[in-house]
Parts: sequence; C-alpha cells; structure tokens
Amino acid sequence: MSLLLSRDVFGDEKNKGNVLSKEEAYNLFNDWVKNTRLQLHMKQVAALMHAWAKEKENLNDADVWRWELAGLLHDADWDQWPETHCKKIIEELERRNVDPEIMHAIASHGHLHFGVQPQTKMDKMLYAFDELSGLIHAYSLMRPNGYEGMDVKGVKKRLKEKSFAANVSREDINDAANRAETSLDDLIAFVIQHQPKVV
Ligand SMILES: [Fe+2]
Repeated sequence: MSLLLSRDVFGDEKNKGNVLSKEEAYNLFNDWVKNTRLQLHMKQVAALMHAWAKEKENLNDADVWRWELAGLLHDADWDQWPETHCKKIIEELERRNVDPEIMHAIASHGHLHFGVQPQTKMDKMLYAFDELSGLIHAYSLMRPNGYEGMDVKGVKKRLKEKSFAANVSREDINDAANRAETSLDDLIAFVIQHQPKVV
C-alpha cells in the first residue's frame, strides 16, 4: 500500500491565512476520529505546536492557531481511512479553502510515507513532535507517576531501547531534530514540559 501523494503543491495561494474556526476544526475532529488514543495523540501534538509557535517563534494568535490546527488535524483520516491517510484530510482542507501551508505541514509529517519534504518551520516542527510525542506518552504510561519527575535522561534511555515503543521510528526522531535545527534534548524537555497538560 503506497501513501505517496505524488505532488508537493497543495491548496491555493490565494487562501493564505484561511483557517477553520475552533468549532469547525473540532467538529471535523470528532466526526472523523473515534479512537480515543488517536484523539489524545492529535491533541498532544496540537498543544505542542501551539506552545512552540507562541513561545519559540513568538507568533501572533492567528498564526499560533494555524500551527495548532495543523497539529490537531494531521492524523484526522488515519482512524477511518488508513489506506488514504493524508490524502483524504488534505483534499478536505483544500475543499474548504484552507491556507496551503497547513496542508503542506500535514503532507510532510511523514516524508518517507507521503514523499513530501518538510520545508517551513511549521512543517519541521510537526514532523519533530509527531513521533517524539508518542514515545514520551508511551513512557509516561509505564511510569508509576506518569509524567511526574520525568527527565530528559530517562526519555533518552527509552530511545536507546529498541524494544520500547518499537513502532516509533528512532530514525525519524533524529532526522526531525536535525531538520528542526533543535537539539534532541531541548525537544524532549519541551515535550515533557507541555504534554502533561493535555487530557
Ligand atoms: Fe501523528
């Protein structure tokens, strides 16, 4: 099964800045995603994108929401339509005249699968947070106190253990940190700081 998108231009430049409202975004999220684990993952990535855009990129509220929206919807079609993962949500957002940058970020969050390279900072951070967030969440579930007292060292130990969260690609995590030009330690610390608030 190939998920290659076979294109790297999405939407229409004239829609730059167009977003879904929070209500529209959550309606789509709730209609399309029924798996609560996946819902939590998407909310975690959305929260990390929001926090990074605000704290590290110093973006305004409208841009912070664009980043959050990309995170919130990046796996929207994975639950019901895994065979057209990415393609379906991108086409839906194109139909709704959403900002092309949001579709590009979604399209490049797994470049090995979809064949689209992360280019913008939004693209790179979505790619960086996706797998790392999943691994750190899995680690929280095996710790008696969840995220409490979790540190970077502990996460890096789990990263080295190939059998732990074996489906999480270590290659993607390292590649994404390099592309984001952020140290893996800083990314891990950022996830540990922000992810526990998401329920
Ligand atoms: Fe994801």
